[in-house]
Amino acid sequence: MNGDLVPENYNSQNLVSMWREFIDWEKRRAGEDNFLINQFHTRKVKKVFDASLGDGCDSIYLLKQGFDVTSNEIDKIFLDKALENAKVENVELKILSLDWRKLDTKIPAESFDVVILLGNSLTYLFNEKDQLETLRQFKRILRNGGVLIIDERNYQYILDNREKILQGDFQYSGKYVYCGDKVHGKPVEISDSRVKMEYTDERTGKKGYLVLYPFKRGEMKNLLAKTEFASIEEYSDYKVGENHNADFYQYVCVK
Ligand SMILES: C[S@@+](CC[C@H](N)C(=O)[O-])C[C@H]1O[C@@H](n2cnc3c(N)ncnc32)[C@H](O)[C@@H]1O
Repeated sequence: MNGDLVPENYNSQNLVSMWREFIDWEKRRAGEDNFLINQFHTRKVKKVFDASLGDGCDSIYLLKQGFDVTSNEIDKIFLDKALENAKVENVELKILSLDWRKLDTKIPAESFDVVILLGNSLTYLFNEKDQLETLRQFKRILRNGGVLIIDERNYQYILDNREKILQGDFQYSGKYVYCGDKVHGKPVEISDSRVKMEYTDERTGKKGYLVLYPFKRGEMKNLLAKTEFASIEEYSDYKVGENHNADFYQYVCVK
């Protein structure tokens, strides 16, 4: 991974090897309860850009549902894992490996009906300039009327409860987005500028880490507004509206 992503943020082999159990592919689908498919059908989506392929969970599902999916992953370890998973699932991934901030080097404007950035991914970028450039690039590759679907973890809960959480009291339903019961993630360092997540595979004791930027309440919505989407709908754990007890927020942003 290049650019000014912090080195600790690198997706290590350990992390990637436990990611599928961390997500629990089946439970992610149960948790979203056809949210994606319903959005896609309402908005007449055919061409999908999955900006953060990861281990392939969402791209492989959407390919099986008949969508024309292009999947982007810049981390070689994640990419290899996704290709391995796609082979097992008998689908063929269409791959790009571009930094979100430089999509214009390869992708013409108005190429897709939808861009998805799921699994709390924008949080890999630490400064507003990079976050905004990424959102602008996503908007650029959408056709008029196309949508960006992006999610974020409820970091405000983590920031507001940092002492309790660091003492071991981390409240997380585990029903949405990251749902595995054998691999658990919890914050082990919390500050306003960075949160270090520790992922533990309870079966092996293996650990992986990610250092992420904690969006404050309203911060991502503000970035989306600055990107000048025509409209932005907010969901909390896939239900319309803003619920401060949610684990994750989703935004559907129309160009
Ligand atoms: C938390 S993972 C999420 C993966 C997947 N969407 C999921 O839900 O499991 C975030 C992914 O974003 C990718 N990523 C981070 N920064 C990026 C950048 N600047 N450009 C492109 N991809 C990036 C990483 O390689 C990583 O695979």
